[in-house]
Amino acid sequence: MSDVTPAGYTRNLVDEGNGKFNLMILCWGEGHGSSIHDHTDSHCFLKLLQGQLKETLFEWPDRKQPGGMVQKSQQVLLENQCAYINDSIGLHRVENVSHTETAVSLHLYSPPFQTCQTFDQRTGHRNTVKMTFWSKFGDRTPYETTISQENN
Ligand SMILES: [Fe+2]
Repeated sequence: MSDVTPAGYTRNLVDEGNGKFNLMILCWGEGHGSSIHDHTDSHCFLKLLQGQLKETLFEWPDRKQPGGMVQKSQQVLLENQCAYINDSIGLHRVENVSHTETAVSLHLYSPPFQTCQTFDQRTGHRNTVKMTFWSKFGDRTPYETTISQENN
């Protein structure tokens, strides 16, 4: 298992909703992006607070027929726009493609989840990764708990 945030963006937990949801703020540097990932049977709401993010939707890969992942659609989310995804809609990658502007997004996941799957775009191969937070409730998360890094 590995961390879900290597490509540079930070995940910052704001509220745990009494165990019903996770509300978090993601901060994206220039060129930072997630890997292709699922949402562990949860609802995922996203709102752009600052900057822009590109969302690319993919079909679930066929386990029996490995190969490149099929892209369904793509959209650019502008400041104050919202998006929604769950596993029945598909998988996605989110990226700040700007080379000059950072981006900040608000995410609500319900029910909360601790792991998700990431997918290799060329092969469809999947990995289970652990979600970690760069900060919780405004406090930096201790280094030991964020040491297992890979890529979402
Ligand atoms: Fe996502």
